[in-house]
Amino acid sequence: MNTLSRSCWIASALYLTIGMGLGIYMGIAQDHTLAPAHAHLNLVGGVLLALFGAYYAITSGSGIRRLGVIQVVVANLAVLTLAPGIALAVQGEGEGLAIVGSLLALSSMLLFLTVVATQPRPVPVSA
Ligand code: HEM
Ligand code: HEM
Repeated sequence: MNTLSRSCWIASALYLTIGMGLGIYMGIAQDHTLAPAHAHLNLVGGVLLALFGAYYAITSGSGIRRLGVIQVVVANLAVLTLAPGIALAVQGEGEGLAIVGSLLALSSMLLFLTVVATQPRPVPVSA
């Protein structure tokens, strides 16, 4: 497994661990106010980062790797702003951070689209 995909999988597992912790907290407290923050931490952080990690594990190429690093950094910045931003927004503390996180999430997906669409032919990584 290359460093880029490994970093995606580690980040994914970290986001899911924190997201599950928040889910358990919500269950115990019987307060589901933060459910949208929990949902996006698990989905945008846990699921999408795992998807990116899977893609970068099965493809190679230096061009892809360079743009991929930028894409993954932007995706992580998106998670780290979107989830807390949603938490603040649902508690009426302002929507600024959620907006920043949304735009970063969209940017990372456009970068991923560029990575996927511009690679002429996926090169399978040999065993
Ligand atoms: C320890 C594991 C987890 C616990 C204890 C947990 C707990 C919860 C709780 C209490 C809610 C609020 C439910 C409501 O208000 O109706 C919720 C919502 C949600 N959770 Fe989790 N969760 C866990 C893991 C996950 C994972 C791994 C994902 C996604 C990969 C996920 C996705 C969601 C989503 C999308 C919602 C929003 C559902 C809706 O609003 O209809 N959860 N979770
Ligand atoms: C730019 C990124 C995104 C923005 C701005 C965004 C925004 C929102 C908003 C405003 C809601 C309604 C929340 C509420 O009812 O209180 C929502 C719900 C939801 N979103 Fe997203 N979303 C984004 C990305 C995603 C992605 C990538 C996924 C899945 C991989 C996702 C999964 C969900 C789910 C499952 C719900 C329903 C659960 C809930 O209400 O908490 N979202 N989203």
